[in-house]
Amino acid sequence: MSLKPGEAIVVKAEGGKIGIYRDEEGELHNVNTTCTHMGCELNWNEVERSWDCPCHGSRFTYDGEIIQGPAVKPLNFERDVNILKKIIDKKF
Ligand code: FES
Repeated sequence: MSLKPGEAIVVKAEGGKIGIYRDEEGELHNVNTTCTHMGCELNWNEVERSWDCPCHGSRFTYDGEIIQGPAVKPLNFERDVNILKKIIDKKF
């Protein structure tokens, strides 16, 4: 599987979901795709290149910063970096 620059994917791992975005320079950016407002799962917005919540409209950058509320906390990625690396090495 390959993720082209500008594309994103959601993968299931460790009982949660991880959003992975590859930027135009080829760098990968990861977020926990659970919305920090009330816990809905975010969808990737291909046009705006943002993570958007279908529940109440919060939007986040590919790095998890808030673009639009009602969420007041940025997305995070708390899972073990080694686990993430394994997933990325295997899939991409
Ligand atoms: S759960 Fe995402 S905006 Fe409310």
